[in-house]
Amino acid sequence: MHKFRINGQRRLRGSVQISGAKNAALPALAATLLTEDPVMLRGVPPVADVRTMSKLLGHLGSTVQVLEETPQGGLTVALRGGRPDWTAQAPYELVKTMRASVLVLGPALARTGQARVSLPGGCAIGVRPVDQHLAGLEALGAQIDLEHGYVTARADRLTGANFRFAQPTVGGTENVMMAATLARGTTRLENCAREPEIVDLAALLVAMGAEIEGAGSATIEIEGRESLHGADHRIIPDRIEAGTYLIAGLLGDNEVRVEGALAADLLPLLNELDAMGADLQILEEAIVARGSELGPREVTTAPHPGFPTDLQAQFLLLGTQVDGVCKVHEKVFENRFQHVPELNRMGAAIELRERTAITSGRRPLSGAAVMATDLRASACLVLAGLIASGVTEVDRIYHLDRGYQDMELKLQKLGAEVERIGSNSRRGLERAKLAPA
Ligand code: EPZ
Repeated sequence: MHKFRINGQRRLRGSVQISGAKNAALPALAATLLTEDPVMLRGVPPVADVRTMSKLLGHLGSTVQVLEETPQGGLTVALRGGRPDWTAQAPYELVKTMRASVLVLGPALARTGQARVSLPGGCAIGVRPVDQHLAGLEALGAQIDLEHGYVTARADRLTGANFRFAQPTVGGTENVMMAATLARGTTRLENCAREPEIVDLAALLVAMGAEIEGAGSATIEIEGRESLHGADHRIIPDRIEAGTYLIAGLLGDNEVRVEGALAADLLPLLNELDAMGADLQILEEAIVARGSELGPREVTTAPHPGFPTDLQAQFLLLGTQVDGVCKVHEKVFENRFQHVPELNRMGAAIELRERTAITSGRRPLSGAAVMATDLRASACLVLAGLIASGVTEVDRIYHLDRGYQDMELKLQKLGAEVERIGSNSRRGLERAKLAPA
């Protein structure tokens, strides 16, 4: 079992390079199923979820080739979507490790007329149903059957339609938008998710020949095409990774320059930090965060452009280091405070009231053995270890590896004393695992 061992209270100074966005790379990889032409994706982060998606695409008959690994750690991956005779089936043993596997459903259905994908179970942060994904595909004319834990979708040819999501869903918007690119006629999607990753996916699809208007707004219109072609696309930087390192910079007498952070994608976080009095310098392609005396704040997570739920845990930690009471309301997922008991074991004294966490003023943290439960909670616990007195060991760090590339190396470069315990060399593994046998 991998662990991080952190010796806290080291000053962080220097630059950290942001990787490509995991949550943009995963739908982009799935989108390559929409064409048999080669699609080149650049700046793909070599993280565990990308390896899982690559394995799944290989299982579906795609060819996945890692062409290059740049110094910043981004991969250039060439993919060809499936053989003509392929039967698109995403097995449970793969889907259970990563819910985003469900993103192959829409493209595989649109390309071959049939797709069978294991229903993703719930996960640590919530039940996370996919009812809106399925309702959207049904609106496009798909026949949906649920049996033995799998969803089977069939349609000779999808037909453009109007569909309104019951609530904004990132994956649902991505799945239905991808499927609609090959439908006959026009599709109008309402109450769509507006995340930057949706805009990036639409940019890739348009580069592949799709006709899409309105990505990034609540209403997206897609004019279906007979087929799509290859493209060469660079994945946007990871705003959640960037936000995580900015918060690290604010936690103590630090100065952290986050290279590649796009302020426009981070405004929901930057506005809150600014209101707390954070010392932030917004540059063209970077943001500098300096340790600051911060005032208390109350935030509520919401779909973009609301405060991102993926930064809730990291923000809550920051809230335990300011004078005054901070309140964080988690409105997107029903069980996303699993980092709180672990933070309280370090001395945070956070009170939980249903879906609200309330801090009790500035609390010095002391190092402890803690356990990660999900991707962003593990990032929060690592940041807590950086400011705690003494040694913190964060166990089950595989959660972190799903979405943060080489976090210990990036933190060491900033001056943190953090080491990974209990793993063999990972870089070789990364390259090997991306290109399936
Ligand atoms: C994406 O998950 C992200 N994952 C999540 O990031 C992120 O937290 C989430 O969006 C919200 O921003 C990827 O992009 C791979 P949703 P997704 O569908 O698409 C409910 C991380 O840490 N819902 O927008 O699964 C759902 O239960 C991960 O990188 C339905 O009820 O999120 C949730 O309460 C964690 N029915 C809410 O909507 C549906 O059919 C938002 O979910 C779909 C969703």
